[in-house]
This record gives sequence, C-alpha cells and structure tokens, in this order.
Amino acid sequence: MQEQLGTAPHTDVDPFSAEYILNPYSHHDALRQAPVVRIEKYDVLAVGRFEQVQQVLADYNTFISGAGVGLSNLKAEKPWRTPSLLLETDPPNHTKNRAIISRALSPASLRSLRERFEAKADDLVTKCIALGEFDAIPNLAEMFPMRAFADAVGVPQEGRHHLVAYGNMVFNTMGPRNEMFEDAMRNAEEVITWITNACRRETLTKDGLGAQIYTAADDGTITEAEAGLIVRSFLSAGIDTTTNAIASALVCFADHPEQWDKVREKPDLVRAAFEEVLRFESPFQTFFRTTSRPVEIAGMPIPANQKILLSIGAANRDPARWERPDEFDITRRTTGHVGFGAGIHGCVGQMIARLEVEVLFKALAKHVRAIELCGVPKRQVHNTLRGIEKLPLRLHS
Ligand code: HEM
Repeated sequence: MQEQLGTAPHTDVDPFSAEYILNPYSHHDALRQAPVVRIEKYDVLAVGRFEQVQQVLADYNTFISGAGVGLSNLKAEKPWRTPSLLLETDPPNHTKNRAIISRALSPASLRSLRERFEAKADDLVTKCIALGEFDAIPNLAEMFPMRAFADAVGVPQEGRHHLVAYGNMVFNTMGPRNEMFEDAMRNAEEVITWITNACRRETLTKDGLGAQIYTAADDGTITEAEAGLIVRSFLSAGIDTTTNAIASALVCFADHPEQWDKVREKPDLVRAAFEEVLRFESPFQTFFRTTSRPVEIAGMPIPANQKILLSIGAANRDPARWERPDEFDITRRTTGHVGFGAGIHGCVGQMIARLEVEVLFKALAKHVRAIELCGVPKRQVHNTLRGIEKLPLRLHS
C-alpha cells in the first residue's frame, strides 16, 4: 500500500494546522498540484481539484462514507458517538433514512416556515441595528439559526447553547486528535446528555420537523432509536454550518460594499449571492471518503481502505473551473459549486439553509444601507469549518 501511495506527489501542507486554517487559500495550490496528492503528516491522500472532488463525490460505491467522513476510520477505530444514519452511512440504509429526512424537509413543509422565519429575521435585524457596534457572531449569525431553525425542529429553549457545542464536537472531531479536537470534547458528557434528550419524541414539540421523523417510527419503517438518531442529524449539521455561512456572508458584504449595493437594489439577488458565499468561503472546508476497493483516480492507483481528504475549499476556488476564483462576485454563475457537497450525500438541509439565509439577508437589505466592520474578524481555528469567532460590526440603517 505504501508503495502505491508513494506515486502521488507529496506535500507537507497540514490542513489541520492553525497556519493553514487561518489562511487556507495560500495552500490550495499545493493540494491542486496534481489530481491526487499525499499529505505526509497524516499519510492520507487528498484531492483538491474540482474535477476529482466531483468524481469522488459522484462514485459513492467506491468512495464510501460508512467508514466516517473524518480522518478516523470508523470501521477500525471506536467512534465517540453512534455514527450518523445519514452522513456516515452507505446505501441501502442511507437511501431509506435519506427519504425520511427529505420528506420532513419537503418544499411544502419549508413554505410553511417562511413567514415565521421572516418575522424572526425582521425582529433580529432591527435589534442588531439598535445595538450600534456589536459582535455579530452571538447576536446575529448564531442567534438566527438558534431561533429560526431550532424552533422549526422543535427543540427545547433551555440549554440551546449546547447545539453550538455539539456541532463543534461533530465537526472538529473529523480532524486529527489535535488541540481543537480535544477542546471540542472537553464538556462532551453534558452536551451529549442534553442532545440525546432533545432528540426524544417526548421532548420535541408536536408540530416540528423533529416530530415528523417519528412518524416513520410509527409506521414501522425505522425504530424509535433510529428516529432519534435522524433527529440528531438536524441538530449536528444544522446550526454551526449556517452560522458560519451567515458570518462569512456578512464579512463578504462588509468587504465588498458595491456587491451589497447590488443586493439592496435587487433583493432577489440574495439567493445568487449566497451561492457565491458558499463557493468563495465554503463553510465546510474538508471532509473524507474511504475507498471500498482498489481504484484509479486520473490514472493513479489507489488501494482499498484508503482515506481520501476532499478539499471543498480548494475545489470551489480551482482556477481550472472558475474564472477569477479569488474574486467575490455575486453575479457569476456558481452552478456546480460543491459548498453543499454533491451526489447522494449532498446536503439534505440545503433548501432550509437557503431559506434561512435568503430571509435574513432580505431583512438586512430592507433595513441596512451599509455593513461596517469595526475591527478585524477573529477567525475560529477549527478542523473542518471555516469559522469566525468574533465579528465586530455596525449596521447602518
Ligand atoms: C450553509 C449551511 C450548510 C452547509 C454549508 C452544509 C454543508 C453540507 C455538506 C458539504 C454536506 C455533505 C457532506 C458529505 O458529503 O460528506 C452536508 C450534508 C448534510 N447536511 Fe448540510 N450544510 C448546511 C446546512 C445544513 C442544515 C441547515 C441541515 C439541517 C437540516 C443540514 C443537514 C445535513 C445532513 C443531515 C447531511 C448529511 C446528508 C447525507 O449524508 O445524506 N445541513 N451539508
């Protein structure tokens, strides 16, 4: 195996070092220098070119998720939680579970959420304007999904801060056992207890998305325990991702006021603008697949049971795919970006995430003339997500 891996060009880039995480873009060329590269430090392969990332995402039988989508091989190492029935499961079980969660997130179900989201967005934006200079992470980027999305799922009000901690655990532990991994797991017991309880039928509101998952347990398609685990997918994947997408969008518009002017003139542009944010600052920067059999990528032989890192961030800025990849331009065609992944595991929550962001940024477009950065945003050092920890802003009405 070692010999075959040896044929891929080596790189000493460490995608899980603080230096990389704080500025991933300066390292992407190293990941894209060949269709497949070998990351020396972890002895894993990586793909960073758009073409290969797409190829890997499309071939879910060869590049499986069931061994985990982090560095650790869940089939060989004991996972810290029961693996996700979606993200970390392959067909046929994945297919069945995906149909259940997709039903709960149907267009009809989302239509009924729009009005409630709009009222919350308007209220929040008005409050944030009144704050003057404020930290937009807790007060806006985190607050909106914590209110809109968590209410939609139907989780209890009390203890919702555990949602952020849980997302942090899930995504940081996809990296190596470094400081970020250990930090995220510091309060694990308390957080897991809260999350497990929040996913129970008795705890969820009767009319939320979470309760809808339990109808599949009622008709015998899945067990009660499986329903709880599918609800857990809402909670692990639905907050931190959206929070960071909102935070990145705020920074993009603060840095590019001319693009914000375009949105204000034509608020429907918000939808296209969000896709550009996902391309430009992909919230989910990396995840892994594992080969189920020997395979070739661009002629390079890859053995079975090999972890492969997919650099979503690098693919979304690959100059072979995108013109002026490092320019934020909300009028570009972003079709095909992999910010939500692609293929059978492509983000199942993408329509609700889009709805949240559309509604929030339309409220901002209505009330806010300019988004001003009042200091340098403090980046979160995070194994997987492109996060922001502190974002001093002022919204000018
Ligand atoms: C802007 C916000 C979001 C981004 C950038 C994002 C990104 C992603 C990506 C890249 C994947 C694919 C992972 C893979 O292929 O291994 C994914 C999967 C997933 N996402 Fe999202 N996501 C977002 C919001 C949400 C929300 C709001 C939910 C809640 C419903 C959600 C639930 C999921 C689930 C359950 C999966 C696993 C799907 C499967 O394996 O079939 N995501 N997301």
